Amino acid sequence: MESKEIRKKFLEFFEKRGHKVVPSSSLIPDDPSVLLTTAGMQQFKLYYIGKADPSKDFGAKNTASIQKSFRTSDIDEVGDDSHDTFFEMLGNFSFGGYFKKEAIQYGYDFFKEMSLPIDFVTVFGGDKEVPADEESEKFWKELGVKKVEKRGREDNFWGPTGNEGPCGPTTEIYVNGVEIWNIVFNQYYQESNKTLKPLEQNGVDTGMGFERLAMVLQKKKNIFETDLFAPFLELIPKEIPDRQKRIIVDHLRGSTFLLADGLRPSNKEAGYILRRLMRRVFVYEKLYKIPTHIYDAIIHDIVHEYGEFYQELLRENNAVREEFKKEGEKFYKTLERGLKELEKISEISSVSAFKLYETYGLPFEIIKELGGQKAATLTRDGFDEEFKKHQEISRAGLEKKFGGHGLILDTGELKAANKEELKKVTRLHTATHLLNAALRKVLGQDIRQDGSDITAERTRFDFTFPRKLTPEEVKMIEELVNSAVEKNMQVIKEEMDYQDAIKSGALHFFKEKYPGRVNVYTVSDPKTGEIFSKELCGGPHVSHTGEIGRFKIIKEESSSAGVRRIRAVVE
Ligand code: ALA
Repeated sequence: MESKEIRKKFLEFFEKRGHKVVPSSSLIPDDPSVLLTTAGMQQFKLYYIGKADPSKDFGAKNTASIQKSFRTSDIDEVGDDSHDTFFEMLGNFSFGGYFKKEAIQYGYDFFKEMSLPIDFVTVFGGDKEVPADEESEKFWKELGVKKVEKRGREDNFWGPTGNEGPCGPTTEIYVNGVEIWNIVFNQYYQESNKTLKPLEQNGVDTGMGFERLAMVLQKKKNIFETDLFAPFLELIPKEIPDRQKRIIVDHLRGSTFLLADGLRPSNKEAGYILRRLMRRVFVYEKLYKIPTHIYDAIIHDIVHEYGEFYQELLRENNAVREEFKKEGEKFYKTLERGLKELEKISEISSVSAFKLYETYGLPFEIIKELGGQKAATLTRDGFDEEFKKHQEISRAGLEKKFGGHGLILDTGELKAANKEELKKVTRLHTATHLLNAALRKVLGQDIRQDGSDITAERTRFDFTFPRKLTPEEVKMIEELVNSAVEKNMQVIKEEMDYQDAIKSGALHFFKEKYPGRVNVYTVSDPKTGEIFSKELCGGPHVSHTGEIGRFKIIKEESSSAGVRRIRAVVE
């Protein structure tokens, strides 16, 4: 059965059973607490919690969709038999319509219609907080499924997407030893502090991996042999190893869909994920000397093959291919510079290899391959070890790492290797908030933060401004910050809803994705009530500005067109 036929069968099956078919939502979600759409239920979050009315919006309490999804958690596994980054998720959903009995019956009946024998199913086995799902076990057994395995939270409980949301126990269907369909019973709402509250209405959320379903229906050994991948793989020269071929097609497919949904490669958040996908395939292009027209041909075919179902691909066809070309040109320029640098090094250690990666984007494979004899002692483990130490955090918000080695704090913005450094970056961090406020007071309210990076040595702050600052302006900014330090102002943290925080006028970094609840740090003078700075932030900060010490701007320069960069220290 061709994949196009499977899509149709699935949607018809649920349409016949009172479900409204809803189009896939974008891969770039409205929900600020997640970077990309990872599941079909995401666009329905409000219906589960009773904040939107499905009968009004869909004319039914039940829906079905085929959702474009993207998960980065599996990115390193791409190339084996069953993992991918972009995938399609078939799902049926109910918001107070039906529950366990019907959901299980539908799962059973759909597989029967497809003539797919169910191997076994799993149900939630219960723990201290949530009881075992005995009902589901009973329903499966009534249908004649003999093997019902009980599993714990890890396997059979769907947690919320983002830091809060609907969730609940799951039952999963396995075919040929592969998990194909996950059926979630949304009975709870998980708060951001992890407590579970019962939902007022029961919900059903299911997700079936389309590629895996196609694999078992088309009787293939892996997802790459299905008609969802095979025609594209054939366009890649035969000599290239299978794993790399698969990565190329997976990443080209993912990039095409992300670009068509309007995402552009960048150094931040979702844009950075896209850049990584694109650069990895450019590396292979270089490494294996793949003729340059091949990728464009594959993208062309992806657009037309999938365009029937996802029309945005056809609409954005030119933009997608243009962006792809542009990013490639940009990357090759950096690559050339990196290769020149590589030539200068006499022996490549994991430290110097990581530097080449960090500065020029040269990945391990390229360094190893083109470094030749000079890279003889360089190993993947050594490189990974170095990489771990400098790991980029691609998630929004704060992530503290208390490992025995490496960084104890790395938020993408703040970096500290030990307690001493943590103190220093904390002082510099509060100083950076003062700087951000002072810049507006001196240069006007229009400036926007464009990025920042804080190490134990200095803070680096980028902001939009059309010209070089005068020495007087630099001095005024410095003095304003120091006057706030001298007044020993208090730094107060408040937790509030993202929308309320924005309404309160707190500064925020527009490129960043924030969770639903955020922390706002306010720096104010307790004597006069003067508010010096108010900003959305994950912390940490000093409690009083007096702890910062003297603030000094050491450099003001251009960072890119229309963006200035300030480096400053505290003494
Ligand atoms: N939301 C569930 C999943 O993605 C169905 O597995």
